[in-house]
Amino acid sequence: MASLVSAVVVVEPLAGRSASPGLAPTPPMGWNSWNRFGCDIGERLVREIADRVVESGMRDAGYTYLNLDDCWMARERDEHGRLVPDPVKFPDGLRPVADYVHERGLKFGVYADAGSKTCAGYPGSLGHEQVDARSFAEWGVDYLKYDNCNNDDSPAADRYGKMGRALRESGRQIVFSICEWGHERPWEGWGRQAGGHLWRTTRDITDSWASWTALLDLQVGLEEHSGPNGWNDPDMLEVGNGGMADHEDRAHFTMWALLNAPLIAGNDLRAMGAETKDVLLNRDLIAVNQDWGGKQGRRLRDDGEQEVWAKPMSDGSAAVVLFNRASTDREIGVTVAAVGLPSAAEYRVVDLWTKAEGVTTGELRARVPAHSVVAYRVWLM
Ligand code: GLA
Repeated sequence: MASLVSAVVVVEPLAGRSASPGLAPTPPMGWNSWNRFGCDIGERLVREIADRVVESGMRDAGYTYLNLDDCWMARERDEHGRLVPDPVKFPDGLRPVADYVHERGLKFGVYADAGSKTCAGYPGSLGHEQVDARSFAEWGVDYLKYDNCNNDDSPAADRYGKMGRALRESGRQIVFSICEWGHERPWEGWGRQAGGHLWRTTRDITDSWASWTALLDLQVGLEEHSGPNGWNDPDMLEVGNGGMADHEDRAHFTMWALLNAPLIAGNDLRAMGAETKDVLLNRDLIAVNQDWGGKQGRRLRDDGEQEVWAKPMSDGSAAVVLFNRASTDREIGVTVAAVGLPSAAEYRVVDLWTKAEGVTTGELRARVPAHSVVAYRVWLM
């Protein structure tokens, strides 16, 4: 009898921790239509992008979500109050599109809005949370980006909380991406409480050096609020959209990886050049971003136009970025002690772009070209 009793194991969730691994244990990765295509979307685009995500190797590198942004809807709800996919863009609705995406081993996302209308003027979901979450679940949606246009000025925590609850009650596991632009500081608690797996911290990105570097500056100080199943989101990637030089795209991708930003590409994968592919498929930087410990990188030093950023990795190593914002080359250096590594005789260093390997006794130093990064991962030997 005693042995039978001792065989009963009661599993209880640890205080303050989720009992399940959650839907976003690492920052979500995927593709979204907005940055490159805006409202010019449709069934054919989704199918072609899904094929390219697979053929390019992006799926196998972790880019799982294929997300439609604004403008997938018809202008009016149906007679039952349900959202309707635009009959011209999606003649057979979203279910076959989701099926096509799922058959390729990918996941499918859509966009809606916590106000009366989306930013582009399509039906909003405020007051329709349950019926819309049920539609998403029926169509096979795995990810919802929930925007903030045309809201009624009621607290975002309430509006987003209602959709978070509706998603949980929908019967399907749906990642909840809060797109509230950081107005009410979702990272301070209400983002997680509303069921969000990620939350925008800023206004929209555009395809320029000035845009993403300004967004980068706004991430300083938010590090402690990001972690598994609740990520700070400085907006999607502009890599490969043509507004920046390749080395600027590399710097943008590097910093987003270090910030544990969701890596959501937004370029035309059907016309992707080799340089862009090399950026999006940099496995070493993806590994930095997807590190299971989920500690966001931070700025260690700001010397005006030269900065040093670092991220502690779960294996005890560190990712270190020397960032030159100036329009001429600069030398930047930092000690391994300053990036938080314990003292040792030697350290192994890998350059995460050139893949060159080396050894240092304690200093990292490089000549960093204009508008560029040098990124290292450093291990104790
Ligand atoms: C807002 C969001 C963007 C995008 C557009 C679509 O501006 O912040 O990311 O979704 O709406 O209209």
